[in-house]
Amino acid sequence: MDGVTDASFRYMICKHSKPSVVITEFTNVEGLARGNVRGLAAFIYDEIERPVVAQIFGVEPDSYYKAAVLLCSLGFDGIDINMGCPVTKVAAKGSGAALIKTPELAKKLVIMTKKGVKDWAEGISLEEAGVNQDMIEAVKKNKDWFPKIISKKSERKIIPVSVKTRIGYDKIVAEEWVKHLLEVEPANITMHGRTLKQLYMGLANWEEIAKACKVVKASGLNTTFLGNGDVKSMDDANEKVKQYGVDGVLVGRAVFGNPYFFAGREPTIKEGLEAAIEHTKYFEKLNHVNFQNIRKHLGWYVKGFEGAKELRINLMQLENAQDVEMEIRPVLDSLNDGPRLQ
Ligand SMILES: Cc1cc2nc3c(=O)[nH]c(=O)nc-3n(C[C@H](O)[C@H](O)[C@H](O)COP(=O)(O)O)c2cc1C
Repeated sequence: MDGVTDASFRYMICKHSKPSVVITEFTNVEGLARGNVRGLAAFIYDEIERPVVAQIFGVEPDSYYKAAVLLCSLGFDGIDINMGCPVTKVAAKGSGAALIKTPELAKKLVIMTKKGVKDWAEGISLEEAGVNQDMIEAVKKNKDWFPKIISKKSERKIIPVSVKTRIGYDKIVAEEWVKHLLEVEPANITMHGRTLKQLYMGLANWEEIAKACKVVKASGLNTTFLGNGDVKSMDDANEKVKQYGVDGVLVGRAVFGNPYFFAGREPTIKEGLEAAIEHTKYFEKLNHVNFQNIRKHLGWYVKGFEGAKELRINLMQLENAQDVEMEIRPVLDSLNDGPRLQ
């Protein structure tokens, strides 16, 4: 999730409760192709996260090809193409969920991504694939960010290419849409049960997710299918798998402030505060983005006890991990532990 599932948050999640797979924030392929080295920050990851999938978006097939080769070289376990983002600055350019309206282009993007993966596995170099020279140099220079750069042919392999999407653009077309996608055989399709027009309003339509899933299963292909939308807990996730026949679910907002989500529980008051300290330290260590970006996480961790609001307000003024710990520690030591108040 853009602005949320950066390397530091994914690390927290994987350390405290391990999901089957994690996905990076999405990154624009045209930016990568032009040499926007800042985009590389989204591709920092730790070994603890594996399998870890890089998510990309955009509209230019050739940029997908180059991005695929670059991502393979960074050692990712998969590449996911975003065909679900409803945000205007993404969809207005024809990418994200707008691709539902241009299925021919959408299919081409999958084909070009797979071609990049295949060419990489067969031995092409980043230079031969046309990856921007500034990107190549930035990757080589930042060994601490990218310790797992692959170059040897013997270590190369075909990694899965998947698609994350919605049930439609302005109306529901879930079944026809997955038929299009199946023509290019993505390894997985994840479907969020709202149209672009709905943004995040109303409830996710799991009946439509189930219908699209049936189309995928009837195809006889190896494509797996995940449902997405409004999953609140692990029990809820397991219920949805049973009820709607999907291979699994993708969880978004329910993990905010809860690195214990995949262990099927909420943090206690003290665990929430410890997580705030640990996450901030790790975030600062990676030092790849603005310190302000940690504040939303602090707001999600620090809740459910008397005095939480005051502590949150104080934390919003701070600029480094040491100050955050100094602010939280005395409160943490003074509290009795227990479940967070709702
Ligand atoms: C702040 C935020 C950022 C998001 N960024 C992405 C993204 O980069 N890529 C993506 O596929 N979905 C993104 N999403 C959508 C989520 O993956 C998910 O489809 C949506 O939140 C519905 O699932 P949920 O009800 O479990 O949250 C984002 C959602 C939110 C709230």
